[in-house]
Formats: sequence, structure tokens, C-alpha cells
Amino acid sequence: ALERTFSIIKPDAVAKNVIGAIYNRFESAGLRIVASKMIHMSKEQAEGFYAEHKERPFFGALVDFMTSGPVMVQVLEGENAVVKNREIMGATNPADAAAGTLRSDYAASIDENACHGSDAPESAAREIAYFFSEEEICPRTR
Ligand code: CMP
Repeated sequence: ALERTFSIIKPDAVAKNVIGAIYNRFESAGLRIVASKMIHMSKEQAEGFYAEHKERPFFGALVDFMTSGPVMVQVLEGENAVVKNREIMGATNPADAAAGTLRSDYAASIDENACHGSDAPESAAREIAYFFSEEEICPRTR
């Protein structure tokens, strides 16, 4: 089905200057970027985005990392976009990520793992709405 998913290029990957390389992976796989912006998240914004992880031991480090520098947030659209994006990213822990995936190529650790992608269509809808208004999203007509 034609889906949308939400993606973040995290501060480590922005610092490595690989935004374009990562966008090329999305586009080469047939995903279209239908919304995109660079932001530097506030502590409150990062805590709200990752609220489901509030009780996890890594929560504080996660929020510190995600607010340590600018990120790119984007909406990707395409056939099976949620699963396709997760295949492009590879496993959360780069040590487990298959060769040729974003985490394998660009991530240093499970904490600094280059990118985020929604895990299901329901979380995609929530995550997209957290960062984008409907008028910022530009569905392709051609
Ligand atoms: P992300 O997809 O952005 O969602 C939560 C993030 O927490 C995850 O990527 C990892 O970068 C980070 N994290 C750190 N430790 C863990 C862990 N043990 N399990 C899952 N996520 C972790």
C-alpha cells in the first residue's frame, strides 16, 4: 500500500555531512521525500517525541544526544514506506545491522545510530504530526 513514514537524520549523521548520501538511499529505493526541514530540537521537544521511552535507562542520554546538534526530519512516501525505510536503515544497533544499510555504513553505536524511522503506520502518523503541519507536506502529483 502507498504509505508515509517519518524519518530523522540524527545529529551524528548531520555532523558527518552525509545528508545527501542518505537522501540518495531513500530516493534510490523509490521513496519520495514529501516534506523536509532542519531543526535543532529543544529538550522538551525531544522528551515529547521519545515519551514512550521515558522509563528506559537510556532516556536521558537519548534526549541529550538528540538535542546535541541539528537534525533533518522528513516524511517519506512510497509503497510499503514504513518497512522499506526500516530495511534501508538496518538494525537499531549498528553492530547487528546488515552490510550496506545506513546504520552499518554511518552509525557508531546504538546510542548514536545515524537515523530514526517509524516502526508502524500508526506511529508514523503520530510522529509526522509531531513535527509537520498538513500544509508542510507536499504529496506528489507527478
Ligand atoms: P530510535 O529509533 O531513534 O528510538 C529510540 C532510540 O534509543 C534508538 O533509536 C536508539 O538510538 C536509542 N537506544 C539506546 N539504547 C537502546 C536500547 N537498548 N534499545 C533500543 N533503543 C536504544
